[in-house]
Amino acid sequence: MTSSPSSPHAGLTAELSRALGGTIRVPGDKSISHRALIFGALAVGETRITGLLEGEDVLSTAETMRRLGARVTRHEDGTWSVFGVGVGGLREPAEPLDFGNSGTGARLVMGLVAGHPITATFIGDASLSRRPMGRVIKPLSEMGAHFHAREGGKMPLTLTGARRALPITYRSPVASAQVKSAILLAGLNAPGITTVIEPVPTRDHTERMLRAFGAHIGTKQGKDGLEISLAGEPELTPCPIAVPGDPSSAAFPVVAALLVPGSEIVVQGITLNPHRAGLYTTLKEMGGDIEVMNQRDEGGEPVADLRVRHSRLKGIDVPPERAASMIDEYPVLAVAAAFAEGETRMMGIHELRVKESDRIAATASGLRANGVKVHESDDGMVVEGRSGVVDGGGHVVTHMDHRIAMSFLVMGLAAQKPVTVDDASMIATSFPGFTKLMRGLGASLAGQAQ
Ligand code: S3P
Repeated sequence: MTSSPSSPHAGLTAELSRALGGTIRVPGDKSISHRALIFGALAVGETRITGLLEGEDVLSTAETMRRLGARVTRHEDGTWSVFGVGVGGLREPAEPLDFGNSGTGARLVMGLVAGHPITATFIGDASLSRRPMGRVIKPLSEMGAHFHAREGGKMPLTLTGARRALPITYRSPVASAQVKSAILLAGLNAPGITTVIEPVPTRDHTERMLRAFGAHIGTKQGKDGLEISLAGEPELTPCPIAVPGDPSSAAFPVVAALLVPGSEIVVQGITLNPHRAGLYTTLKEMGGDIEVMNQRDEGGEPVADLRVRHSRLKGIDVPPERAASMIDEYPVLAVAAAFAEGETRMMGIHELRVKESDRIAATASGLRANGVKVHESDDGMVVEGRSGVVDGGGHVVTHMDHRIAMSFLVMGLAAQKPVTVDDASMIATSFPGFTKLMRGLGASLAGQAQ
C-alpha cells in the first residue's frame, strides 16, 4: 500500500491530446465511502452499500472495520455489506491499524476508537506520518481518550479510548470535516449532547448519514459559527447507501475537457453537495462551459450530470470563504488557471500545506517546472495565466500525493510539450482506473501506471 515517490516504474507522461469526448462515470465519493463503512460498523444489522469507492484509502478503512469487529464483505456484483456491532460494541484490534495514505480514515477512526474502552495503534505511510494529528488529539483527549504520539502529535500513535466518554462542546480552530466527524464519532458513545462549533461550515456527510441511521443531530447558527449537536448513545439502524460519484475525482476529466480544444464530455452522477461544489462554481466564473443537468436527490445527497465543453478561461479572484467547499481541488484549479487569460488569485488556503503533501509548494513547483509563473504566500498563491499556451516539458515531483499527480497529467494533455509525473501509483488511493478512463476519453497518457 505504501510506495516511494521514486518507484522505478510508476512514472506517467501526458501529451497534447486530440479533442476529448464521451460519457463517463467516476468512482464513488471518497468521503461518503469512508463514512458508509464506519457507520455501518456501528449500526446493528446489515448495511448494504452500492457504488463504494474501491480505492486504497477506503479499502484500508474496510480492513480496519474488520479488525474492530465488524463483518465487511464484497459481493460479486460490486456491492458491499457491513454487519455492524452497535455503538459501544467495537473490540480491541490484535494488530496495528494501517491507514496507508489516508488522513480521513485515520482521523475518523481515532474518533471512533476514542469513544470505546479499547487500545489501538495507528500507522500509515510516510506522507500520513508527517501530517498533524494534534487537531483531533486535543478534543478527543478532552473527551477522556489517551494518546501516545510521536513528537508534534504525529503518527504512528497509540490511542486508548475513554472508559466513559465525556460529551463536550468544542469550537474547532480549523475548518475541518475530519475534526468535526472525529468528535461526533466519539460523541456517539458519550452520555449526553456533544456539540461541535464550526467557524466555517465544512462537508456535512457525517451529519446527513447519522440522521439517516436514526441519530438525533441538530444544527443551528450560533454567534461563533454553525453549532452541530448530537445526542449520544443512539441505536443506529442500518440504511442502504448509494454512494454518488466523487466531485473531487470528476474535477480531473472536467478540467481536462475545458482545456483540450474541441472537447465535449458528460460526467454522470456526481454529488453537487453545496459543501463540495466550489470548484464548479469557480470554473463557471472563469468562463467554463459547464452545464448542470438532471439534478436529483440520491440517497440523501444532491446529484447531477455535467456536460463540459472546451472553453477559453479567464483569471479570477477565488473568494477565500469558498475554500472549504473546494479544498481538495486547488491543485487542478491552479492548472486550469495556468491556461486562463490573466491572473487567478487563491487565498485563505493555508490548510493545503498539511494535506497528503504541502499542496501549495508542490503545485507551485509543478507550475514553474512547466513554464508558468506563480507567486506563493503562506496561505495562498497567484497564478499568471498563459492564455491557452502552456510550455509544459516539466518533470513534476508528486510527493506521494494523488491529486498532484492527476492535476499535472491534466496539464500535459493541453500543454505544448509532454508533462511527466514521477509517481502515478498514489492515484490508486482515490481514483482507481483513472488512466483507463482518461484514455477512453482520448487522453494521451504513456507509462505503466494502472
Ligand atoms: C475530508 C475532509 C477534508 C478533505 C479530505 C476529506 C473528509 O479534510 O481534504 O480529502 O472526508 O472529511 P479536512 O477535514 O482536513 O479539511
